[in-house]
Amino acid sequence: MDDERLRPTRRAFLKAAGVALFSLAAGYPLVRALIREPKPIEPAATDGWALPSTPPWPPAVGRERRIRLVVTRDVVRLPGGPSFPAFRVNGRFPAPEIRATEGDRLIIDVVNRTDAPLTFHWHGVHTPPAMDGVPFVSQEPIPPGETFVYSFVAAPRGTRWYHAHVDEVRQIPLGLFGPFIIDPPAGEAEGRPEESGGRPWEAEAEAILMLHTLGPDPENNPVGALTEGSGPVGGMGGMMGGPGRMGGMGRMGGMGGGAPPNLLYLVNGLPAASFPPLRVPGGGRLRLRLINASATEPFWLEAPGAHFLVDHVDGNALPEPVPFGDLFLAPAERIDAWFVAERSGTFAIRSKIPGQEALRISVEVAKADGESIPPSDRGGGSHLPGTAESWSYWALAGGAGTALPAVDRVVPMVLSGGMMMPVWTINGEAYPRVTPTRIGEGERVRLELFNHSMVDHPMHLHGHTFWVTSIQGVPLRRPIPKDTVNVRPMERMTIDFVANNPGRWLFHCHQLVHMEQGMATLIEYRKQA
Ligand code: C2O
Ligand code: CU
Repeated sequence: MDDERLRPTRRAFLKAAGVALFSLAAGYPLVRALIREPKPIEPAATDGWALPSTPPWPPAVGRERRIRLVVTRDVVRLPGGPSFPAFRVNGRFPAPEIRATEGDRLIIDVVNRTDAPLTFHWHGVHTPPAMDGVPFVSQEPIPPGETFVYSFVAAPRGTRWYHAHVDEVRQIPLGLFGPFIIDPPAGEAEGRPEESGGRPWEAEAEAILMLHTLGPDPENNPVGALTEGSGPVGGMGGMMGGPGRMGGMGRMGGMGGGAPPNLLYLVNGLPAASFPPLRVPGGGRLRLRLINASATEPFWLEAPGAHFLVDHVDGNALPEPVPFGDLFLAPAERIDAWFVAERSGTFAIRSKIPGQEALRISVEVAKADGESIPPSDRGGGSHLPGTAESWSYWALAGGAGTALPAVDRVVPMVLSGGMMMPVWTINGEAYPRVTPTRIGEGERVRLELFNHSMVDHPMHLHGHTFWVTSIQGVPLRRPIPKDTVNVRPMERMTIDFVANNPGRWLFHCHQLVHMEQGMATLIEYRKQA
């Protein structure tokens, strides 16, 4: 160990932990991770780690596929729950899965048979700007009765999703979202182009789980949140909400906080109580693709007696799988994980957030030959029950590195608002009255995020993959590839990307009430002549 090199890092480290402790309630996963990181820091991957500059979309090498999405309005009756006018896509609530192979040229006809203007955004897919679905930035909204043809190459591979991008606080919770899974071309490893030997394991069972919430009166208030300015928002909900809660809502949480009362918790459009158990056949393994499609709520999932082996976040491959005892998903985040049970039996995937008790999914695991233990990973030794860590980006990144990678441009992004008025801002501006940030094509760009507010902001960049390179000033050992990152109260974070997809791109909070109340901005650059 090189002590000279360690010292500054340690200092930065303790300082960061101190700052976080000072500002936040105990129990905050990041703080815990920072505090209990006593081991010597290994040589950092961020030394010499460079931003991968993948092309925004590969040439269409696959087939051309035509997909037709017909959007209608219709009453949805939830088993044991309310009936309300919702959106359906091809008759389905929520929208059906799109499954493509990387490199396919997709031609998607979106037929609007509703009374509302709409667009679709392909979240996490690197489309050209004109296909990105942002109203008045990429395209005009599709008027009632008309059809818009989206055309783009399906890339990059991974768990993506698609959703409406007009009147999001109504249209998304009322059904305009679906999974968009891009598989690697046959014979290639999932998300691991460097490995040609196939997938780590073949999944006997794959479950795509889209978690979403609705207010108790979906017709009049689909998010179940304060969307009008009838009082202070923000408040202390974030501090009082208990561990993991961190007040995603931007409204008064009250003492003991937790999730807002009376929300409906849906799994793939069914109330969690009616969602059938996931069955893992004898000797089989279960792969989960979790998508947080809630407009406002984070989820913090655990499965007592089992743990999760995470290999993709937001659909992007991690350098190696990481075991976790629980998973935290802010709105729009995705996690791909193997469900690892050490014995046969019935398990429950449930939320640790107070007030989210209704969110519960059962998993029935049958083992083929006695109680054989499934492989926990492919090289790093096995992870025994109880040793898996609690979720944090920190753990995901393998701890601290020593240096940030070099970039060409640094752009501060200060997230604030919500104090006395229902207005949320980036660098003091509320969308659409914003000054676009201009960058140059080909630049390596660093956004320096600072959450100067008391609630979480899950920030999403359109059209690009970015890497989380530091948290609270501490470089991460293995930068995390994402398209949506949850920035907690008073937290600083850097996210780096390569400007390789010229256009005008939205950067916004995916807590949709915050977005509607202004927390969005534009980043733009032209193709160099
Ligand atoms: Cu999934 Cu602009 O968002
Ligand atoms: Cu926000």
